[in-house]
Amino acid sequence: MGDAIESVQREVRVFRPPASFSARARVKSLDDYCKLFRDAADNPESFWGDVAKEFHWFTPWSKVREWNPPNARWFIGGKTNISHNCLDRHVAGGRRNKAAIITELESGEVQTLTYDQLLREVCRLAHVLKSRGINAGDRVGIYMPNCAEAAIAMLACARIGAPHTVIFGGFSAQAIADRLNDCKAKAVITADGLRRRGRTVDLKNNVDQALTNVPSVEAVIVHRNTGDNTPMKAGRDLWWHEAVEGKPRFIETEAFDAEHPLFLLYTSGTTGKPKGILHTTGGYMVWAAYTARSVFDLREDDVYFCTADVGWITGHSYVVYGILANGATSLIYEGAPTWPDAGRLWSIVERHGVNIFYTAPTAIRTFMRLGDEWVKRHDRSSLRLLGSVGEPINPEAWMWYHRVVGDERCPIVDTWWQTETGGIMISPLPGGTPTKPGSATLPLPGVAADVVDEHNRPVPPGKGGRLVIREPWPGMLRGIYGDPERFKNTYFPSGGIYVTGDAAHRDADGYIWVLGRMDDVVNVSGHRLGTAEIESALVSHPSVAEAAVVARPDALTGQALVAFVTPRGNATAGEELRRELGKHVTREIGKLAVPADIRFTNALPKTRSGKIMRRLLRDIACGNASVGDTTTLEDYSVLQKLRESEE
Ligand code: WTA
Repeated sequence: MGDAIESVQREVRVFRPPASFSARARVKSLDDYCKLFRDAADNPESFWGDVAKEFHWFTPWSKVREWNPPNARWFIGGKTNISHNCLDRHVAGGRRNKAAIITELESGEVQTLTYDQLLREVCRLAHVLKSRGINAGDRVGIYMPNCAEAAIAMLACARIGAPHTVIFGGFSAQAIADRLNDCKAKAVITADGLRRRGRTVDLKNNVDQALTNVPSVEAVIVHRNTGDNTPMKAGRDLWWHEAVEGKPRFIETEAFDAEHPLFLLYTSGTTGKPKGILHTTGGYMVWAAYTARSVFDLREDDVYFCTADVGWITGHSYVVYGILANGATSLIYEGAPTWPDAGRLWSIVERHGVNIFYTAPTAIRTFMRLGDEWVKRHDRSSLRLLGSVGEPINPEAWMWYHRVVGDERCPIVDTWWQTETGGIMISPLPGGTPTKPGSATLPLPGVAADVVDEHNRPVPPGKGGRLVIREPWPGMLRGIYGDPERFKNTYFPSGGIYVTGDAAHRDADGYIWVLGRMDDVVNVSGHRLGTAEIESALVSHPSVAEAAVVARPDALTGQALVAFVTPRGNATAGEELRRELGKHVTREIGKLAVPADIRFTNALPKTRSGKIMRRLLRDIACGNASVGDTTTLEDYSVLQKLRESEE
């Protein structure tokens, strides 16, 4: 990195948890939090052992953790099943008829599944998977709308020990094929389509296209969601509703080792190839459940609504596993947040009596722009806690969320974490931690977060540095699928310290302010994208010779992508090529990866060693007058041309 990390944070407002909230909360004061934090730090084995004891283990563990960097194992020798802990345990323990998942489809249709019904649907699907030869260890791709069936698919895989890999419904056929091939998936669970802004998006067609290049997939199970026609390939494709007919309502849970792979979730890194982040059974279960309960202060009668799609880690941990492991009620919404009007989410809050609402800063900023009226026309008196995740939240958006959505009554938990961490790492505990707009505040118990310089020495308060985690935690990733070398180099380059890739600073109170990524990973609307991935998609187009993608700040989406593209000799730069490249990136990765700006240039600025000068491109993309030190530029004329192309 080299450059000093500048921090210009000037926020001084502090909001104490409302007394009425703290009085009923699990953690009632900052002292409570400090005590938990100390217990977990001083005696991690007994602390996490006690948390884990609340779950059902078919065989108890013999040792809580083993740490041989970069390899961690938790609850060694223990055997459990996360689907049993999310379902059977509650059905047997008094929550049989409690709502587990409430789905609101974009069409307005509402479906509620009790814990008993959910268990039945999971077991029936597990039978179908088994009957198609899917067994423990076989990988299953899930490409679904955001609805209860996606959760059922995940839980059915978990029940039989088949690691799932959920692929976000916005990804293209090519992106699906890349992910399924990387993990050699044996089956895919999908749907005919999903609803978006009153239309349907054909998911099955994307799967069909993808599978022309994925030899490992033998079976495709298709949930009928939109009712649109889709061709079914004989011998490979099954309708879900037909396949489960007559299947028994129960399947015995198998006990899996605590370190049995639970899922892979592909996420962007700094190279062109997405990484299959591996999470295992026991540690992830304990982490997702503990963090959900502590951060959302979950109560028995809460209706909890997280707007994230199950295709992202937030959906895994805080729509499905962490919420159901606590026996809580998870509300899932299928469609677009502003459909049929900008009041949709607030109407959901009103109609379902939502108590806890968890969303992303981009959504908050979108609603802020659309105007307070859309929020205020709906009764939000049921809300008692608000959450934010996925990107830094600017103090202005935080204040709007607090004032308009929360009526100055609801604490806000700004939760910092990553696909790799499995669950929330830095966040207020809402009954105990005073909040400051824009800060994720303090690390959770068990999280040894630090802000350090390039020699891993803590930096003084107020100075920027790298955000690292010094100790292992139960929910940490266990690897990158099929690539132990990349796992070590990316996350543990110097021994046992986990490198997050984010920059941060700590203030005099020890509060952490996350500033954003330090590597070539960008965050557009809370979606994590690797610039290298988008560059490789662009250069795979026959008209492109070279491409560099950087980010610039954007008031709405946090960051926006700017691509600098050198066309091949015979190609004509212009509007037509720009449109064509947008379509091409949509095909290669998905719409979410299409740059906001595509600029054509005759050459890219490079150092003498041939490295693209990204900092310079970032400055140009941001429209900064000063472009810094360019003495290492190979071709000065390039800079001028790039500036000219700024039209
Ligand atoms: C960013 C999403 C600031 C961060 C759960 C991280 C945040 C990346 C916050 C992980 C937050 C997430 N404040 N930045 N509260 N939450 N980030 O893997 O840069 O999709 O490294 O996980 O999002 O994104 P991912």
